[in-house]
Amino acid sequence: MFSYRTLIATDASAWLALRKEGARVAPKGFLVTLDEVRKMDEAGAQKALEFGGMRGVFEDETLVGFCGYRPQQLQRIRHRAELGPFYVTPSQQGSGAAQVMMKGILEEARAGGVAQIELTVAPDNARAIAFYKRQGFQKYGVRPDAIREGGVPECELLYLRWVN
Ligand SMILES: CC(C)(COP(=O)(O)OP(=O)(O)OC[C@H]1O[C@@H](n2cnc3c(N)ncnc32)[C@H](O)[C@@H]1OP(=O)(O)O)[C@@H](O)C(=O)NCCC(=O)NCCS
Repeated sequence: MFSYRTLIATDASAWLALRKEGARVAPKGFLVTLDEVRKMDEAGAQKALEFGGMRGVFEDETLVGFCGYRPQQLQRIRHRAELGPFYVTPSQQGSGAAQVMMKGILEEARAGGVAQIELTVAPDNARAIAFYKRQGFQKYGVRPDAIREGGVPECELLYLRWVN
C-alpha cells in the first residue's frame, strides 16, 4: 500500500540514503553526481527538505521514491511548475509507486492552480521517457549542451504536461 506526502526534516536520513542509491544506480536520472551527493550530510539534507520542495512515496513506513516539485513563484509564471528529480528504488520500479507519486503531484498542481508541469530527461533514458509519455507528457524541445560529462556536451529533452 503506497502513500504520498511532502518530505520533512525527519525524513532526511531515508531521503539521503535513497538519493545516494539513485545517483549510484541511475546516474542518467540525475543532474547531481554521486560525489556531490556524498558531500551532503544529514544536517544538509534536513535543511534542503525544510524548503518543502521534495515529495516522497512510501510503502507502509518505508520511503521508496522521491521527486522534486517546484511551482513557480512569480506572478506571470505561477501557472507553471518544475518536476524532478524523479526516482523510485529499483525493487519498486514497475510496482505502481511512480504512478502514485505522479498522481499526488497532479492533485497538488490542480489544487494550487498550476496549469503546466515541466521536466527534463536524458534522450537515452528510455524507461523514464516511456513512463512520462504514459503519464501524458509530451516533448516540446531539446536543450543542446545541457550537460557536460567529462567535458563532452550532451543534450536533454524538454517535456511538459498540461494539468486538466
Ligand atoms: C523513471 C521511473 C521513476 C519510472 O518508474 P517505473 O516504476 O520504472 O515506471 P513504470 O514501470 O510504471 O513505467 C516504465 C515504462 O517503461 C517501460 N520500460 C521498461 N524498461 C524499459 C526500457 N529499457 N526501455 C524502454 N522502456 C522500458 C515499461 O514497460 C513501462 O512502460 P508501459 O507503462 O508503457 O508498460 C523509474 O524507472 C526510475 O526511478 N528510474 C531511475 C531514475 C530516473 O531515470 N528518473 C527519471 C529522471 S528524468
